[in-house]
Amino acid sequence: MNKLSDLRQDYKKNQLSEDMVSSDPLVQFDQWFSEAMEAGVTEPNAFTLATVDVSGDPSARVLLLKGVDDGGFVFYTNYESDKANHLEHRARASMCFLWLELERQVRVSGGVTKISREESEVYFHSRPRESQIGAWVSHQSHVISSRAKLEIRLEEMIEKYKNQDTIPLPDNWGGYRLIPERIEFWQGRANRLHDRLLYSKAKGLTSWIIERLAP
Ligand SMILES: Cc1cc2nc3c(=O)[nH]c(=O)nc-3n(C[C@H](O)[C@H](O)[C@H](O)COP(=O)(O)O)c2cc1C
Repeated sequence: MNKLSDLRQDYKKNQLSEDMVSSDPLVQFDQWFSEAMEAGVTEPNAFTLATVDVSGDPSARVLLLKGVDDGGFVFYTNYESDKANHLEHRARASMCFLWLELERQVRVSGGVTKISREESEVYFHSRPRESQIGAWVSHQSHVISSRAKLEIRLEEMIEKYKNQDTIPLPDNWGGYRLIPERIEFWQGRANRLHDRLLYSKAKGLTSWIIERLAP
């Protein structure tokens, strides 16, 4: 195995300063997201979502961001999954985007709420038919005895809906919106002296403050 301690990369592509960012972190996110798209980052909307379970144990997994609107970040999942159970107990989470090609990271944290069923319906029906059926097949995060069980259930669902144009939205599937309270933009710089700008909201205030953090 290669020696991990010898792996080293200096970051030199860009810089981030207070005078070049928007006063609104969602506008700034949109700007960086567009740049990630233009740079050809693979799955630029993939992010790691961290939640905590009822005993405070953390857990992280990768999801796909499906919208930034109404002041928050929207993602979709199974409402009976582990992450959904965590959010039921503790409706707060942290998201982390990594755009290595641009030597950038964005961290977002705040409260999480379920979006409306109507909003989930619109997104659900915009997905390919196979993905809609897939939502009916999988009891996400539950133990299953074999892959074959999954495939049998897939065949059953395909049969069940074969004469229906519209696949109904399962009760246990839908979206969440994370409303940010802190957003940090990280730009890699040379010699590990990276740029970090943190947007945060003081309690009860609507405007954002921007502070520079030591790397
Ligand atoms: C690139 C990528 C994208 C994913 N997107 C989603 C997603 O949008 N929604 C989802 O529920 N799971 C998604 N997953 C699967 C999750 O990482 C995870 O396995 C699943 O949600 C179960 O997590 P949980 O048991 O912590 O609830 C994705 C995985 C990868 C690697």
